[in-house]
Amino acid sequence: MNAYCYFRSQFMPLAEAKVGIVTHALNYGTGCFEGIRGNWNAEQQQLYLFRLRDHFERLARSCRVLKIQLPDSPEALCELTVELCRRNGFREDVYVRPLAFKGSEAIGVRLHDLQDDFALFAVPFGNYHEAPDGLRCGTVSWRRVPDLAIPTRAKVTGIYVNSALARTEAHEHGYDEAIMLTKDDYVCEGSGENIFAVIRGQLVTPDPSQDILVGITRDSVIQLARDELGIPTIERSLARNELYVADEVFMTGTAAHVSPVIEIDHRPIGTGAIGPITARLRELYFQAIYGRHPKYLHWCTPVYPAHTALSASERDVPAGMAAADIAG
Ligand SMILES: Cc1ncc(COP(=O)(O)O)c(C=O)c1O
Repeated sequence: MNAYCYFRSQFMPLAEAKVGIVTHALNYGTGCFEGIRGNWNAEQQQLYLFRLRDHFERLARSCRVLKIQLPDSPEALCELTVELCRRNGFREDVYVRPLAFKGSEAIGVRLHDLQDDFALFAVPFGNYHEAPDGLRCGTVSWRRVPDLAIPTRAKVTGIYVNSALARTEAHEHGYDEAIMLTKDDYVCEGSGENIFAVIRGQLVTPDPSQDILVGITRDSVIQLARDELGIPTIERSLARNELYVADEVFMTGTAAHVSPVIEIDHRPIGTGAIGPITARLRELYFQAIYGRHPKYLHWCTPVYPAHTALSASERDVPAGMAAADIAG
């Protein structure tokens, strides 16, 4: 199947969307991005994009930090994303990546006097973590970049060097995922996830002043815990040793979903198995993202008109068709 993306104001084959090696964002990390999941509901033959508008609103805020002008409003970019998924005819879980970046081919580190560029692509995407029984995590030596160095609320491409250092250190030490501390040695987050502890029946998670990326999954879980389970979330600084003695620990993220953490720094968390509150929250979260929880359908943007998912023959644009021919 041909895969399509949206680049430089038109839909085009993904294989043809290229940038030059002098591109500013490639050299200096001057871009912002989002990760959005599309979740395939086979019974309904529907692909649901989860909290689409919230992701594009966060992208718009990230772009303000990096002085990048998006090509359109969050609302229009939502429509573009639906159209892209439709053109690709996805009938499986996908990951959607909008990327706004300094596209000038220019040497010289700065944010000003550069042209902005925008790309949007989507790829089939299954599980992010291959640890069905729960994650074994390790605290790493790399500290999360402080907000005063790079604004951590913004999802900036360059900041992910920090995440990559952390994740690879964890991997090399035999862990599934890293836990990063802040510069003050409080718990911050994973390399691509926020973190929660269950302590005496409440959820505790680092507050936004702890240099976290304020996650959309984090927000969804806080709402689900409060409204479906009657469990409040306390947002505060969290010491590393509080994780060791917590009843349960889990991570949240668009890619990672709700991921139970069963071990940290070689210490079992709780019973060393997936805890009951984590299990319940994960179940609720899956119901919500696959459009199976009527109360949370407003979080789900359907890609296909109801009951009319495209057949294979309808979805492919004939090979050799010029990009301009499929622009729209
Ligand atoms: C560093 C970092 N923290 C947290 C998250 C979780 O954010 P969200 O739930 O919006 O995907 C992500 C993923 O986007 C991330 O990259």
